[in-house]
Amino acid sequence: MLILGIESSCDETAAAVVRDGREIVSSIIASQIDLHKPWGGVVPELASREHLEKIEAIVEESITKAGVTLAEIDAIAVTQGPGLIGSLLVGVCFAKSLAYSLDIPLVGVNHIEGHVYSVAFENPEVQYPALALIVSGGHTNIFLVPEEGSYRIVSRTRDDAAGEAFDKVAKMLGLGYPGGPVIEKLSVNGNENAIKFPRAKISDGRPDLSFSGLKTAVSRYLKEHDVVIAAGAESSDQVRDIAASFQKAVVNALVGTLEKLAREHHPRTLIVAGGVACNGSLRRAAEQAAGELSLPVYFPSKHLSTDNAAMIAAAGYFQLKQDKTADLRMTADITMRLQNMPEENKNIREGKVKYRL
Ligand code: KG4
Ligand code: ZN
Repeated sequence: MLILGIESSCDETAAAVVRDGREIVSSIIASQIDLHKPWGGVVPELASREHLEKIEAIVEESITKAGVTLAEIDAIAVTQGPGLIGSLLVGVCFAKSLAYSLDIPLVGVNHIEGHVYSVAFENPEVQYPALALIVSGGHTNIFLVPEEGSYRIVSRTRDDAAGEAFDKVAKMLGLGYPGGPVIEKLSVNGNENAIKFPRAKISDGRPDLSFSGLKTAVSRYLKEHDVVIAAGAESSDQVRDIAASFQKAVVNALVGTLEKLAREHHPRTLIVAGGVACNGSLRRAAEQAAGELSLPVYFPSKHLSTDNAAMIAAAGYFQLKQDKTADLRMTADITMRLQNMPEENKNIREGKVKYRL
């Protein structure tokens, strides 16, 4: 079965053709990074206009590169949410029109579930229960996946997403956007033990995460130590040490929590996906933790870690097998959540976030 995947939730216009949910026949990604760079982050209005200009050509390219015709496509899977409303609408409207004109099924995919399915390529089949850390610019959650398609959030960030923290700290350090790749690059030559940034602890004992205090700690450090941020700052030893120490704090928090939850829930597979999963330091730490737990850990390859349409097609394939198709009333949903199992303890998120060294 050939599925055309379409993704436009944030700042990538992407289309892919995927066979039987596991084989990428083509995958085209048009990134808008250069468009948003001067603003230091994604500008929603610019993003949606750019999607509108690009989407037809990107979809056409994915079909041509796949060496197929539109008539051979069996179904279309499109990101329905969460994301930026204007951006999502471009993909959703395009997918609906195309599915209608070709008279083929349409599936609305949750973007976060798409990230979970990004490990469907180039990895052995996931064994359930699985524990999935999805860590990107907009989201940071750990899901317990007892069986394919069932999700329970067992940890979430109380404030910023980890990728957002990378982006904000990079901005403070004058390193530009997006922050993750540049912080990782600088960290290679920095001392990750130079500065001990505080770790968040939630007072209600939940295994949740928090990154806004870490961002504030970096800002305070810059002021207290009169760190001069100027053009070319990326070459200073001091900035490298700050970048490396910050990265270590994020990685420790993510992997420490994943490990703790793995000991509690006994999964058979660990999954680490989303844009921040590009980070080599995070991959190494997760691999080490998985080794200690004697569990396999699956990552998407780097080009499938950030937003792409192949993962959307893979998630869509599973829904199609269950006949979960959408009709033409389907629309973008920015509030879409990935949790179809009740939380273990509803009486939560009353605790305060405290920081300790
Ligand atoms: O999954 P993604 O493309 O978009 C969202 O769904 O949010 O993730 C983008 C995020 C950005 O915050 C970016 O800084 C981060 O992923 N990122 C990284 C790295 N590469 C991208 N963070 C840390 N290290 C990296 N190498
Ligand atoms: Zn994403």
